[in-house]
Amino acid sequence: MLISQVATPQSIPRKVVDAITPQNTIGAVNQSNGALDINTLFAPIRPGLRLVESKLRDVDSAIFAPLAEAFVNLIGSGGKRLRPALALLSAEFNGSMQNAPHYSTVIALAASVEMLHTATLVHDDVIDGALLRRGAPTLNARWNGISTVLAGNYLFGTAAHFSAETQNMRVIALFSDTLRVIVDGELRQLKDRHNFMQKRENYYQRIYAKTASLFCAATQGAAILSQLPEERIADLNQFGYNFGMAFQIIDDILDFTGDDATLGKPAGSDLRQGTLTLPFFHYLQQHPDARSVIAALEDAQIEADDGNAAVWDEAVNLLVRDLRNSPAIEAAREEARTFLRRAVDNLAALPDNVYRHSLFGLCEYAVKRTY
Ligand code: IPE
Ligand code: IPE
Ligand code: MG
Ligand code: MG
Repeated sequence: MLISQVATPQSIPRKVVDAITPQNTIGAVNQSNGALDINTLFAPIRPGLRLVESKLRDVDSAIFAPLAEAFVNLIGSGGKRLRPALALLSAEFNGSMQNAPHYSTVIALAASVEMLHTATLVHDDVIDGALLRRGAPTLNARWNGISTVLAGNYLFGTAAHFSAETQNMRVIALFSDTLRVIVDGELRQLKDRHNFMQKRENYYQRIYAKTASLFCAATQGAAILSQLPEERIADLNQFGYNFGMAFQIIDDILDFTGDDATLGKPAGSDLRQGTLTLPFFHYLQQHPDARSVIAALEDAQIEADDGNAAVWDEAVNLLVRDLRNSPAIEAAREEARTFLRRAVDNLAALPDNVYRHSLFGLCEYAVKRTY
């Protein structure tokens, strides 16, 4: 089993281990005094992030005006900029990159991963029929599906252009492969909707594909551009993998435990759409009568197919309420912590500098975040 083999690695700094132990996690952390400030962690790469921001916002004025407006709104709608930050931080382990003449290649990579992320969210919201993202109406809430997908494609094109600006064939190939893997993951997720008999392995496979793969592209791409030795490139790739897996698991927990206002999107929507996530797998595993849980969901689903959507809604509401108060949440959170412990360990051989310190901090942030 993927998770259970992992022991706490020796090389993890004490502070980080403490931060990702059970007694100090989301539920226990008060937003006003315990939550980590992501901006402090980004401070060492703030100038780079500003360059990324202006690159992202540099819309071609010659494009179709409604597309330009959508582009500006999507880019300006306030994401955390985590993926570009990871790229900029990961680029700083082979001497100062910020002061190197080819820093623009790292900026291009960072802009590329954020643009790709934004494009996948645009498509994801069409697939999910999501009307709210980052607290604001999605593009598909205002445009029809086809036009929204085409706008997403424009963002993909922009992301590809940025990746070409790195002028590094390996990074360009990494970008292309990542895009293929993300599409593969979203399609797997669609196919497995409402499949209550699916294996938990399917879940790990699709969260790697739809989420962790892009974190890998950010960290590995930056390691390549900063010309680190292959072993360290592999370390940063693994860091991206473990961090990304944990990040998506927490997102999936928040989908159950968060409230609409904090999340900036409706809570409980994964299960409502038939997407099974880690808390659900744990819930089933711990339930004394998992068969009846599945049977009730399948019956409700059949009713919904026959036009009685309220039955499905009610079944989901009941399950979400029960699951929120079950040990499944803590079990899923413990898996996220396990991935983060591995992520921290992946950094052991890298130089001990402020950038590594921020990456450790982001591992703490990942379990403590509330949105
Ligand atoms: C949302 O990612 C999608 C997931 C992979 C869970 P973020 O939480 O990084 O989204 P923004 O960019 O900050 O809105
Ligand atoms: C991330 O997964 C979406 C992509 C990687 C495209 P989610 O579907 O969980 O993201 P949210 O919850 O809609 O932000
Ligand atoms: Mg979604
Ligand atoms: Mg989600």
